[in-house]
Amino acid sequence: MSDAYDLIVIGGGPGGYVAAIRAGQLGLKTAIVEKRGALGGTCLNVGCIPSKALLQSSHHYHMAATEFEHHGIIAKGLSLDLKVMMGRKDKVVSDLTQGVEFLMKKNKVDYVIGEGTIKAAGEVVITPPKKGAKKQTLKTDNILIATGSDVAPLPGVKIDEKQIVSSTGALDLKTVPKTLCVVGAGVIGLELGSVWRRLGAKVTVVEFLDHILPGMDAEISKQMQRTLKKQGIEFKLSTKVTGAKTAKAGVTLTTEPVAGGKKETMKAEIVLAAIGRLPFTNGLGLDKAGVEMDDRGFVKVDEDFQTNVEGIFAIGDVIGGAMLAHKAEDEGVVCVEVMAGQSGHIDYDSIPGIVYTWPEVASVGKTEEQLKDAGVKYNVGKFPFTANSRARCNADTDGFVKILADAATDAVLGCHIIGPEAGDLIQEVVVAMELSGSAEDIARICHGHPGLSEAVKEAALAANGRAFHM
Ligand code: FAD
Ligand code: NAI
Repeated sequence: MSDAYDLIVIGGGPGGYVAAIRAGQLGLKTAIVEKRGALGGTCLNVGCIPSKALLQSSHHYHMAATEFEHHGIIAKGLSLDLKVMMGRKDKVVSDLTQGVEFLMKKNKVDYVIGEGTIKAAGEVVITPPKKGAKKQTLKTDNILIATGSDVAPLPGVKIDEKQIVSSTGALDLKTVPKTLCVVGAGVIGLELGSVWRRLGAKVTVVEFLDHILPGMDAEISKQMQRTLKKQGIEFKLSTKVTGAKTAKAGVTLTTEPVAGGKKETMKAEIVLAAIGRLPFTNGLGLDKAGVEMDDRGFVKVDEDFQTNVEGIFAIGDVIGGAMLAHKAEDEGVVCVEVMAGQSGHIDYDSIPGIVYTWPEVASVGKTEEQLKDAGVKYNVGKFPFTANSRARCNADTDGFVKILADAATDAVLGCHIIGPEAGDLIQEVVVAMELSGSAEDIARICHGHPGLSEAVKEAALAANGRAFHM
């Protein structure tokens, strides 16, 4: 196979493009196939990056409108230029996607624009985006499926990306809606609900379950709901949306209690449907290639990310588990390293999950509920940001750090933070867990003063009943 590639990656998201870079570094002749017209996948184009750009901008606006005065800064005549805000977000995205294209060149990865279809192990057919353009067949020793995920449909509600939007439409609204109804109190619902609330929309979140942020530690989820309520977001829990009607004046949603009962209607200018994401394998030709999927459509893989067909691998959102960019990246790296004869593995218990609301929520390892269910004996160390001097200087004292440590060995089993910069603070606990560290290890590490990270140290001390500042 002299002209053939060692590896063809299908899908240019964080999983696929990082895998391609690693393959290039390892000297594998590699191509990456992407149909979107830009690299970076969901994350960079319509996910992590544009949402965080808007979260940052809307946070500044909200701070100027509500918090500056407490610092003695009078921001009179404050106004919003949404076009500029959106333009900045778009530029962040385009600069980064071009950066990824440069990284492909730097690592000698061929970037092929088009839809990739697996004809058989070792053969990928590329359909270029231009109608009528000639298809080409590329040969390869290995194929890596990294085609990601797509928005889950909401039964009875048709997304038109104008009045009823998915996250993609919600990242690109032309005006601030007067009213926004978010269906789903998961990560997307709370992040994008926060963006539009801060910019002035009246936001109501409808959630099927009786709590928000499913999967998070229950104490964190409760505190988050209280905090967001203070910020003006309304919640309708244990409620399901069963239908939607659009008219010029807005959308009328039909809802009913999950436990059964009277149907209700609610009106909103814009509805955001954010009830999860599904694996994306359309057009890949998996049936013909004989690649097995589970009953929810996720591609099945073994511990080396190999599918049931030799030479065909898969990573990222398309194989299930946490739908996170950094999880997809790490899987891509391990998969390629194993392919190249090296070894590697992923500790799925040490993958942090972060919600970029304000305050942020960050979580790693087991929740208290999971430890209780598993019958594990554990100590809890908790420290509130009200007792942290830096948080006080910053006037940002909402939230706490909670560390869960094994009662017998003191090993850190989990950490859950709600508070300022939680997403960065969690990282030292991730390192501790990766190195099989204990609460005592974190407590004995010198933390700079005054710093938010001292709250992590204090929570670690508290796990053994000896916090200093509480
Ligand atoms: P994707 O990023 O989905 O990339 C797959 C790519 O494959 C796509 O570009 C697609 O066009 C391409 N493709 C599909 N089929 C073919 C084909 N046949 N041929 C060629 N190309 C194909 N995660 C975080 O960790 N942090 C965050 O802050 C975060 N924020 C998010 C915000 C939003 C609004 C959304 C929607 C998601 C967010 N996520 C976040 C999740 C994150 O985007 C995904 O977990 C991540 O993008 C998955 O990476 P992936 O490489 O598996 O797939
Ligand atoms: P999600 O799974 O986080 O939340 C969906 C929510 O919708 C759940 O609370 C669920 O109970 C609820 N729901 C489901 N059906 C419903 C119905 N009919 N009516 C009302 N509520 C209903 O999914 P989300 O928010 O769409 O995000 C998708 C993925 O994207 C997540 O898996 C997440 O990992 C990833 N993501 C990650 C981010 C981050 O890391 N900061 C940011 C945004 C997305």
